Order: sequence, then structure tokens, then C-alpha cells
Amino acid sequence: MVAQDPGFFARLEKLQTPELLWIGCSDSRLPPNEIIGRAPGELFVHRNVANLVEHTDVNCLSVLQYAIDVLQVKHVIVCGHYGCGGVRAAMSPQPLGLIDNWLRHIRDVHLWNRDELSTIADLDVRADRLAELNVLAQVANVCHTTILQDAWRRGRAVTVHGWIYSLHDGLLRDLGLCIGSPEQIPPEYRLFY
Ligand code: CO
Repeated sequence: MVAQDPGFFARLEKLQTPELLWIGCSDSRLPPNEIIGRAPGELFVHRNVANLVEHTDVNCLSVLQYAIDVLQVKHVIVCGHYGCGGVRAAMSPQPLGLIDNWLRHIRDVHLWNRDELSTIADLDVRADRLAELNVLAQVANVCHTTILQDAWRRGRAVTVHGWIYSLHDGLLRDLGLCIGSPEQIPPEYRLFY
């Protein structure tokens, strides 16, 4: 990098002002900066198996809180992907070990959407639809956190988006769920209104 651009690290060292927080899958084929064409310094990142956001996961919540309150990011992107091994494992009766406890959250999403998913005969197509439904559930989970709701209460403009990436064609798809205010979440989850 220095051979190409001698000032690269001197600039990067002074730069930690990302506008985006990316929450994505740990899958080795999904480098977030490259997927959305952003340079180092432009993206704050949290990754775990199957891009889950759990309200008791102190790691994920700390990333979210730091990104929103300290770095002042304006957008949170939950990005899943088609062909996700975590989603596929959560559809199988085959145990994999400790990870099964983590993937239990996807089994919940499967159960909540059992009627729709049971109409899809092809297992790959069903897994891809479950990957989409999982993204939508995790977008909701981000919005239900104390962190997002407190940021909105303070008048911060933070918007949460659900995207899905395809390894098949390298394209990102917007799942059309975009939440930027507490009025968009169910009253049962609202903390301040
Ligand atoms: Co995955």
C-alpha cells in the first residue's frame, strides 16, 4: 500500500469518522468494505455468525452504542447473505456443538414464519427466504434496543436498513425495511413514547 500511496497510513491514522455501522455475517467471503466499495475508515463493523443482534449480547450492544453515541454514525446496516451456512445449519436436525445455541435465534425466526416457509419446497430457496426474514428480524432487534430508542429520544437521526448480499452475482439487495423513528416499532417495545 505504501508503495502505491506513500501517505495512506498517515491519513488513515487520523481518520475514524465512519457514517455507517455494518452488522454482517462472519462468512469469509463477505468483506464489508469491498462489498459496498468503501475505503478503510468509512465503515464501523460488527460481524458474527448469521448477522444476529441479540439484546443480551454485550459485544454487539457495545459496538452499537459506541458507533451511535461516540462515532455518531447515521446509518446502521444489517446485511445478511444468500447461501448462509448459519441459516442452513439452523434448518437442520444435525448438531454442530456450541454454535447450535447461537443459531437457536434463527430457529425462532423459522418458527415465527413457519406458514410461509413451509410452502417453499426447494430447500435452497427456503433457506434464502429464511436468510431474508432473519435480516428483517435483526433490523427490528436493533431498533428495539435501548441504544437506538435513546438516540431517537435525543433527536438523533439514525436509520436502520436491511440488506441482503448474493455471492451468486455480487449484488446487494435492499429488503425495503428502513426504520428511523420509534413510531415504526410496535408499541410493546417502545421505551419512551
Ligand atoms: Co453467513
